[in-house]
Amino acid sequence: MSSPLRIAVVGATGAVGMELLKLLEREPFPIAEVHALASAKSAGAALPFKGSTLTVQDLESFDFHKADIAFFSAGAARSKSFGPKAVECGCVVIDNSSAFRMDPSVPLIVPEINGHVIGPGDRYIANPNCSAIIMLMAVAPLRKLGAIDRLIVCTYQSASGAGATAMEELLQQTREFLDGEALTRRVFPHPYAFNLFSHNTPIDEDGLNEEERKVIEESRKILGDADLRINVTCVRVPVLRAHSEAIIVEFVGPAPSLESVREAYASAPGVKMVDDAANNHFPMPLEASGIHEVLVGRIRHDPSSPHGLCLFVSGDQLLKGAALNAVQIAEFMVESGYIVPRSVVS
Ligand SMILES: NC(=O)c1ccc[n+]([C@@H]2O[C@H](COP(=O)([O-])OP(=O)(O)OC[C@H]3O[C@@H](n4cnc5c(N)ncnc54)[C@H](OP(=O)(O)O)[C@@H]3O)[C@@H](O)[C@H]2O)c1
Repeated sequence: MSSPLRIAVVGATGAVGMELLKLLEREPFPIAEVHALASAKSAGAALPFKGSTLTVQDLESFDFHKADIAFFSAGAARSKSFGPKAVECGCVVIDNSSAFRMDPSVPLIVPEINGHVIGPGDRYIANPNCSAIIMLMAVAPLRKLGAIDRLIVCTYQSASGAGATAMEELLQQTREFLDGEALTRRVFPHPYAFNLFSHNTPIDEDGLNEEERKVIEESRKILGDADLRINVTCVRVPVLRAHSEAIIVEFVGPAPSLESVREAYASAPGVKMVDDAANNHFPMPLEASGIHEVLVGRIRHDPSSPHGLCLFVSGDQLLKGAALNAVQIAEFMVESGYIVPRSVVS
């Protein structure tokens, strides 16, 4: 049994931060205390924790010597400003933002897939993009069935992927739409209720938006396959929580049998098959919301290619796409003896 650890949650008032606190309430590893951090405007607010409350502290004035693990979920700018400082103060940082994901010295981790690349000296770990995690949870178990040549993916991304204010925007716009009122826009550039649009991130010179670029580059890094061909189209849909994705996996050789695919998923941790063709029941965001597993279904061969396997997946991107994956990384590092309280070290 390891000694209790002191935890800092940066961005504790946000959509991911609130999920982190709920997961930490269950003590995935022994916890001595939790510091809830956010911006100055939230300082002093009370957040529920274990039947009591945590008082939110201002990130700017927090002394990271008071923590052993710091979970960052407050945007890339805050991670860049405060993440390296937290490491200097002796913390292990697990960062949900994109700030250092592609830094070659920073492990980018989905524990079920590449947890083994974390070493005892690693103090800064990046949590991947949520769409990449959900896609890879379905794709990685298939690698034992044959070499993968190419992925073709379309995403159906929920409001929660853009944070708590975006979720409120979808709810408010839905009410306004039904009441025949003008739609209030704060986060998204287009009407969101009863609509969908190409992902709201900037487009680069190749015509890819930032989300698509992240899925491609981060997936290659996580799988350790710099040449993997990936074509992804990211779309925002008016779903409150949990991302879905239609995925075509193209194998170098013929696609594996559907029976072997189902066997691979039956033994894959963190994956649950929902593949009931008789009742037309396949992964749905409402059923993926609030659960730890990524749902995988509509498993079928590609009628247009002998190399193709088609899937449809839904996963709670606030959980496996963010908070849960981060806590699993911490759990793995505690169990491996890579994180110990500094009182024990000194
Ligand atoms: N949502 C997802 O599905 C998801 C998935 C993977 C990764 N991420 C990443 O996780 C991070 C948080 O996302 P989210 O969806 O939880 O966003 P969110 O709901 O908008 O929450 C943002 C959090 O950051 C805090 N924050 C903002 N500016 C700050 C500042 N200047 N100083 C200190 N704290 C500040 C906010 O505190 P206040 O309440 O005080 O403003 C809030 O706690 C982002 O980097 C995002 O890219 C999100």
